[in-house]
Amino acid sequence: MSIRRSVVRGVGAYLPKRVITNDELSQTVDTSDAWIQQRTGIRERHIAAEGEFTSHLGLQAARAALADAKMDAREVDLIVLATSTPDQTFPATAVTIQAELGIQKGAAFDVQAVCSGFVFALSTADQYLRSGSFNTALVIGAETFSRILDWKDRGTCVLFGDGAGAIVLQAMDQPGTREDRGVLTTHLRSDGRHRDKLFVDGGPSTTGTAGYLRMEGREVFRHAVGMITDVIEDAYKATGYDSNDIDWFVPHQANRRIIDGSAKKLGIAPSKVVTTVDRHANTSAASIPLALAVAVKDGRIKPGHLVLLEAMGGGFTWGSALVRW
Ligand code: ACO
Repeated sequence: MSIRRSVVRGVGAYLPKRVITNDELSQTVDTSDAWIQQRTGIRERHIAAEGEFTSHLGLQAARAALADAKMDAREVDLIVLATSTPDQTFPATAVTIQAELGIQKGAAFDVQAVCSGFVFALSTADQYLRSGSFNTALVIGAETFSRILDWKDRGTCVLFGDGAGAIVLQAMDQPGTREDRGVLTTHLRSDGRHRDKLFVDGGPSTTGTAGYLRMEGREVFRHAVGMITDVIEDAYKATGYDSNDIDWFVPHQANRRIIDGSAKKLGIAPSKVVTTVDRHANTSAASIPLALAVAVKDGRIKPGHLVLLEAMGGGFTWGSALVRW
């Protein structure tokens, strides 16, 4: 019996031009290239220019994804944008991108789950496409974290960067087997008891300012690997697949040690792990689609491959998705 699945038709990304290396950062805060690389694997990050907003980054990534899919924007009837750094408190940054793309039908909205945002947005779009509410979705992760960093706090400012990535998802009938293309399963989790471990100390309803990112790095690290591997085990249970079946593991790019620790615990070979944290740093909701775009462009991810995505971030929130490309 055929079933309706959300199939990836295209992927695209955009990075701001300006690159800041660890050495350059060490001229303004008390840090070093050696410390940052040893603790995080990060070498450099891209930072948005003055006047370059999250919507600009997301729009470029969306255009690249549509070009990759060889599709016209007018086919899109759903935009789900994951971001914690919207252009404005409202309207949703997704509607700015919708208007810039000339789309006048369907719906566009933002999803806020911090670093897990892309997995939450993917899962949301997948539910709408499979239910028949919409047919073609742009799922975008776009962030300008540089705007909410305290550039005097060496414990956080060295970790993040700006960027955007996007995929085009289209509802298609599939045979209904393990070999189906498309999103096979998604699993989302949140636990607000951890909300004070990674947060922004401002907001429209509290301080009336955007605020700055604050983090208990060790606490985040302590929980990350366990949460990530739990939610991946959920994906395995739901599909019958396991680490041996995975062609590519594309994790949220927070920190090299978290990525390596998760892959090791799951028994995923290092050669199957897509890593971009060295060049992009942590771009929050943008990190997974940015990594996907890199691995598709360089020929690693091919149609038919089984791709495992996961993320964990502020809230805490965490989630996984298993996608046959
Ligand atoms: N440069 C040099 N020294 C630093 C820096 C820096 N940038 N930042 C902190 N230090 C110092 C601290 O002051 C401390 O010095 P002290 O011993 O004299 O007090 C020392 O380094 C150790 O500090 P810790 O915070 O204990 O360092 P730790 O080994 O835990 O590494 C890090 C910090 C990299 C943040 C780590 O905790 C981590 O990776 N946590 C996960 C956080 C993360 O990835 N967050 C991303 C957002 S959430 C997500 O996306 C999953």
